[in-house]
Order: sequence, then structure tokens, then C-alpha cells
Amino acid sequence: MIAKRCPLIAGNWKMNGLKKDGRTLASTLAKHIKKKKKGKQPFGMLICPPFTLLGAVGAALKGSAVMLGAQDCHISESGAHTGDISAKMLKDLGCDYVIVGHSERRADHKESNAMVKAKAEAAIKAGLKVIVCIGETLAQRDAGRTIAVNHRQLRGSLPEGATAANTVIAYEPVWAIGTGRVATPDQAQEVHAAIRSALIRALGEKEAAKMRILYGGSMKPDNAKELMALEDVDGGLVGGASLKAKDFWAIAKSQT
Ligand code: PGA
Repeated sequence: MIAKRCPLIAGNWKMNGLKKDGRTLASTLAKHIKKKKKGKQPFGMLICPPFTLLGAVGAALKGSAVMLGAQDCHISESGAHTGDISAKMLKDLGCDYVIVGHSERRADHKESNAMVKAKAEAAIKAGLKVIVCIGETLAQRDAGRTIAVNHRQLRGSLPEGATAANTVIAYEPVWAIGTGRVATPDQAQEVHAAIRSALIRALGEKEAAKMRILYGGSMKPDNAKELMALEDVDGGLVGGASLKAKDFWAIAKSQT
């Protein structure tokens, strides 16, 4: 039996936005979602602005069903880590989620699977939900290593104690991020199904069937419906298109 998973549409603003744009974008989305009838919301919506905007965006989202998330956290609760932000601080600020292991952080900050796993565990301990990102580069895909790479990253990054309630996986092929080159439905479904199988091995059939696996990489209003209709795609992690309220809302609505 196919488990019913509530899709999640998450916007990753990356290092974009100043106070005014952030507030406007967040309150426009909050208004859109408020217009939908209560109790009829068929998907969850989340925005992950940069740290500097979490307070302002959180205030703009207050009372709405749009959730707030951050893009990274440190593995420790507090201490001598200049420039870092802990999961506990994010929780204290009102965050619901944190993204860990995005390929840009793996590349720019040399984050290993072990580091990503430790961050995810710290986040869960602090009471946050995590979006754990994995995905192959073009060279790895061309070498026929797509499934092996995603399996290895998943095994290495999946937090201890992961459940469908505290963990979401995001499959983000690195070659599709910000490039306008999107995975075909066949390519996406093949990897999502392989991730689901690995989750079954790691967590058991029941938990794996409930865990959401998002697709990320050049998701736009014109390709979202086809991608999100795939059996093992349970929403999207959207970068560029999440910076425009109209596009992000169109993507979210294509889920219905
Ligand atoms: P993109 O980014 O939608 O701009 O390709 C997705 C992501 O990196 O999360």
C-alpha cells in the first residue's frame, strides 16, 4: 500500500534578500496561503531565508501556516565558534526546520557526510525538523555512479533516530541546481525510488513509506507539476524560483 505523504514545498533563499524584500515576499506568501480554506491545505509550505532575515520573516509569517527554516546550523549547542549559529538558537528564534548538507555547503565549506549527520542530530535534539540534502555531480552521473553516490551520502548523512516526523530527504542533483537543467521525470523517479529503498533498509518499511523525499534543482512553475506527480517525489526544495512570490506560489499550487 502506498502511504499518504503530505507534500512539502520548501523555498531556499540562499544568500539573497534584504529586510524589505524578505518581509514583502514572506507576507505575500502568507496571504496566499491564508486565502486557502482552513483544513483544506493539501501541502506544507516552508521558507528558509538567510540567518539575517529569520527574525523579520518569522514576524511576517506569524499566524500563517507558512513555516520558517534556516539553511544550516552548527553541531554544538553553544560555545567558541565565531560566526556560527546553533540549532538551539534557531529553535529559540521560532524556526521549525533547518536544511543540512546542501551541496553548496558540502562544496564551499567542505562538509562531509559525518558533519552533515552530526548537524542533523544536533538539530533534532534541539527540536527542529531537518531537510538532509544529497545528490550527485554531473561527473558522477556520467560515470554511472548516480545511485551509488546517493546511497553513500544517504547512509553517511542520515541522522541517528531519524523518523518521518523529524527528517525529510532532498534529492538535489548538483548539475540541476541553478542551471535551468532539470532532471527528467524518469531520472528523478529512478533516484527517488532508490532513496526510498535505502530508507527501507535503514529504517524499516513503515517509516520509509512515510518519509518525504523532495526534489530540488531548477524546479519552476512549468515543470513542477510533472515532477511532483511522480510516485516517490513528495514536494520540492526550490531555490531561484522561491525568490518570486508568484512563481513559488504557482509551484506550491501545482501540487494540488
Ligand atoms: P534552484 O536551487 O531551484 O535554484 O536550482 C535549488 C536548491 O539548491 O535548493
